[in-house]
Amino acid sequence: MNTGEMADRFLRACRCEPVDRTPIWIMRQAGRYLPEYRDLRQRVDFLTLCRTPELAAEATLQPLRRFPLDAAILFSDILLPLQALGVEMAFTPGPTIAEPLRTRAQVDALTLRPAAEAVPFVADAVRLLRRELDGRTPLIGFCGAPFTLACYLVQGRGKEGFGVAKTMLYREPAMLEHLLSKLALAMTDYLTLQIQSGAQAVQIFDSWAGILSLDDYRRFALPYVKAIVDGVRPLGVPIIYFVNDGPHLHEAASSAGADVLGVCWRAPLDDIARRVGPRVALQGNLDPHVLFAGTDTVTRQSAAVLARVAGRAGHIMNLGHGILPDTPIASVEALIAAVHDFSGRRAESALAPCTT
Ligand code: CP3
Repeated sequence: MNTGEMADRFLRACRCEPVDRTPIWIMRQAGRYLPEYRDLRQRVDFLTLCRTPELAAEATLQPLRRFPLDAAILFSDILLPLQALGVEMAFTPGPTIAEPLRTRAQVDALTLRPAAEAVPFVADAVRLLRRELDGRTPLIGFCGAPFTLACYLVQGRGKEGFGVAKTMLYREPAMLEHLLSKLALAMTDYLTLQIQSGAQAVQIFDSWAGILSLDDYRRFALPYVKAIVDGVRPLGVPIIYFVNDGPHLHEAASSAGADVLGVCWRAPLDDIARRVGPRVALQGNLDPHVLFAGTDTVTRQSAAVLARVAGRAGHIMNLGHGILPDTPIASVEALIAAVHDFSGRRAESALAPCTT
């Protein structure tokens, strides 16, 4: 195969195998920074977009038509599968939970329906996408981590922070643990559905893990992520665990058993690599705000991120959090060009396996 067409470099990097150059995809790569996404959204609301397989597939493919990305990610939202637990929600554009969970009776009343029945459109979208992508680009499925989902479920919305959720953690830890167990089961079933429908890797988003102390993280976040990882591990696809705002959590997070640790922009990748050891691939970690500083800065800052892990096969380039709605398209192009340029040149001279 021509090295420029290495369709599996993302999957290989997840497994710390040598690649011709560093793969890149971008968290939230389908979204409002793309004019074609805004056009689509003028015609349909966000939930309809997620629930209509042809439209979700279209949104997934939009960034791939524009940019030579190394992975596609299913278009959906982390809150959608909570329909399987009977939770009602709206997006304005942030998520709002119709009846936030505040009592033990509400948590007890959550009964789990199979994802295949509750969100069949997700399986359909994945199947459709695998046909359309036709082996050219691997497809990532995803879910929210139990603690991050619980933050939204308990708080009701994200805008004001998660004070109610954190208070529940101290006031009624058993109730929160009960909820987290249910979420872990629901997400294991949901990822299983995506993988069985054709997802070739999965990412677990722990966007709010960073609000926890290390001790609380070990009790209220890590075991439930580990349960999901253990549950989907037999299905054999790479598992990425993204921990936002987590420099104090990286060592613990790497023990969840995922193949890849996705990290925010706060700590440099070489420090993180030393702390988590050679067996875990790393994904990240350019600050999304760099993309507002002009293409020269994007090029320089991207090269700096790559230099931190030069010679480490297990690196997937990405932002340290989702791309922001007003990001200039030219900056995304500059980021991808920088990855092609710097990591391609380096790979020609050495194809090293994972090392710290
Ligand atoms: O990455 C992709 O391209 C796939 C699509 C995707 C969306 N949400 C679409 C979306 C993914 C992977 C997510 C994950 C998600 N959703 C996370 C984890 C990642 C992160 O950013 O930390 C979280 C915390 C959510 C919850 C959520 N959904 C928020 C906070 C918001 C509002 C903020 C925003 O970006 O508008 C949403 C809505 C949402 N999810 C939109 C999109 C494209 C915007 C809806 C619109 O079109 O108006």
